[in-house]
Amino acid sequence: MSKYAVLVIDGKEYKLPIINGVEGEKAIDITSLRKKTGYIAFDPSFANTGSCKSSITYMNGEKGILRYRGIPIEQLAKHSSFVETAYLLIKGKLPNNEELIRINVLLNDLSMLHEDMKTFYQNFPSKAHPMGILSAMVNALRSFYPEIVDIEESLDRTFLRLISKVRTMAAMAYKISRGHATIYPSPDYSYCGNFLYMMFENPVIPYKVDPDIEKALNVFWILHADHEQNCSTAAVRVVGSGKANIYATISAGISALWGPLHGGANQEVITMLKKIKNQNLKISDVIKKAKDKNNNFRLMGFGHRVYKTYDPRAKIIKQMCDLILSKNKINDPLLDIALELEETALSDSYFQAKNLYPNIDFYSGLVLRAIGIPTNMFTVMFAIGRLPGWVAQWRENSLDPDIRISRPRQIYMGNSTSDYIPIKERP
Ligand code: COA
Repeated sequence: MSKYAVLVIDGKEYKLPIINGVEGEKAIDITSLRKKTGYIAFDPSFANTGSCKSSITYMNGEKGILRYRGIPIEQLAKHSSFVETAYLLIKGKLPNNEELIRINVLLNDLSMLHEDMKTFYQNFPSKAHPMGILSAMVNALRSFYPEIVDIEESLDRTFLRLISKVRTMAAMAYKISRGHATIYPSPDYSYCGNFLYMMFENPVIPYKVDPDIEKALNVFWILHADHEQNCSTAAVRVVGSGKANIYATISAGISALWGPLHGGANQEVITMLKKIKNQNLKISDVIKKAKDKNNNFRLMGFGHRVYKTYDPRAKIIKQMCDLILSKNKINDPLLDIALELEETALSDSYFQAKNLYPNIDFYSGLVLRAIGIPTNMFTVMFAIGRLPGWVAQWRENSLDPDIRISRPRQIYMGNSTSDYIPIKERP
């Protein structure tokens, strides 16, 4: 017998179907609620709203589980590459050897940027944030490349173009911001190796790609590749539902990611750690400030809407951070501050009661610093990593027959009616 929930309004009963996910999540299907009852569901910020059925990513915030297409994040971080994981997310299966070779060839073929696009960079003010530049440049891609007509037919090439060019764009933005000559991608390197090469190669000191750093970058991007219905992914689904072109849709995701409560948190963590160091702040005072209701300061890199235990990605990135720093004999004073901050917060009753644990952003910035990525590029690094997730979610949304244009409703609380007052009569 199929289960349903019963809603009683003014003594009248309404049956609403129950939906069960494969991992035991339960939902009440309210798609017919307004039609049947005249009521809508009220859920600001959508914390209790399932906006879609999805087969891409599973996360369990209580148990600290994250899986892409069923594969635990720990296994992917250990054995996979970013390119392989990207394929997994979008196509739903790991590529075979032939497919992987083909993807890597295409990633190289599609890695160049139209020379006209280069001139755009010169016109941004020198202080422009790289996220603003990236969002604008990705949107501009639509002026240079065709829109997807048939998703299954042209998605591969469009996706590979996006993932390949975004990497070139990011490295180019960095070079131009430093006033250095841009470096073209080289077919000799892997996806991650090529990014490092474009970032750090220069005519005076040639850059040698270190396999440990390359691995760290792969892990960083794998960990960021998808996270189900987060703020930027929801933005991608919403914008995509209006049938905006894929470049504009991804550009919307990049803009949403920029916020300090979302992807911008990795940059904020380093800013916070630097402040603690430079101003010689006491850790106990920082924790006190984060707990103070009258102060809007929050411990950046702590807390999560879904994870109510240690973020599984934070565990992996913390190990990676230890490895990279010790292998390269880097003594980053910010790591000691982060460790002390974490220890103090985790033993504090405020953080314990609210289940606030480190999220991925707490240690990811330290890994990026060790790689040599400047702080203002951190969120761009996150965006490159999240790209396959956005594309996978956009594809799923576009092919789902139940999805219509996103259009939430509201509860109006303003004036009932008021007359227009001519300007001269206004108080
Ligand atoms: N420092 C101090 N207090 C925090 C906190 C933090 N980092 N994160 C959450 N809290 C407190 C809130 O003040 C709130 O307290 P209250 O119940 O007394 O009002 C409670 O914990 C719940 O937080 P809330 O803002 O409702 O959770 P959310 O699900 O809306 O927000 C985040 C989640 C991630 C936006 C939030 O934890 C945060 O701002 N973290 C810092 C930014 C960050 O690291 N973002 C990256 C996420 S991957």
